[in-house]
Amino acid sequence: MNLLEGEREEILNSVDEILTSSEINRRNLIPILQSIQERLGYLPRPALEKVADAMGMAAVDVYGVATFYNQFRFHPPGEHQIKVCMGTACYIVGGQIAMDSFARRLNISEGETTPDRKYGLERVACVGCCTMAPVVVVDEQMEGSVTPTRVDGILLSLEANGNGEKPGEEE
Ligand code: FES
Repeated sequence: MNLLEGEREEILNSVDEILTSSEINRRNLIPILQSIQERLGYLPRPALEKVADAMGMAAVDVYGVATFYNQFRFHPPGEHQIKVCMGTACYIVGGQIAMDSFARRLNISEGETTPDRKYGLERVACVGCCTMAPVVVVDEQMEGSVTPTRVDGILLSLEANGNGEKPGEEE
């Protein structure tokens, strides 16, 4: 994921502040990463590198620890966050088909965000509406019985409610 203009500086300043107010030792690695994610919404690569540097660890080791916990995200959240339920009930009636449809339409993989930061795509566990399976949660709004045609409809309505442009399309 490419950083936006000025974003790297913002990231490094935020990490500086968090490190300054934290006790820097390996026992504190997870709470520090949590604080960074709370502040920035995800764990960008420059943040992981800076934390590794401060802790005297290899960046790859910090990355390894972070990827072990599924609470951490490595892509910025999209303006519209699309969460596809992969609980058992949704999975068996087409959750993966819904996920693949969104991935294909948005040209990203699960867990990623479009380069324009407009859409993020992630999998979630059962959201408690199994009778509506397969379920997708778009910006906290539940969408049930999500077939590939519904995927197109959901994306069209998001575009219509936004600036009317398709992802990556310019006037
Ligand atoms: S499994 Fe998807 S809502 Fe329960």
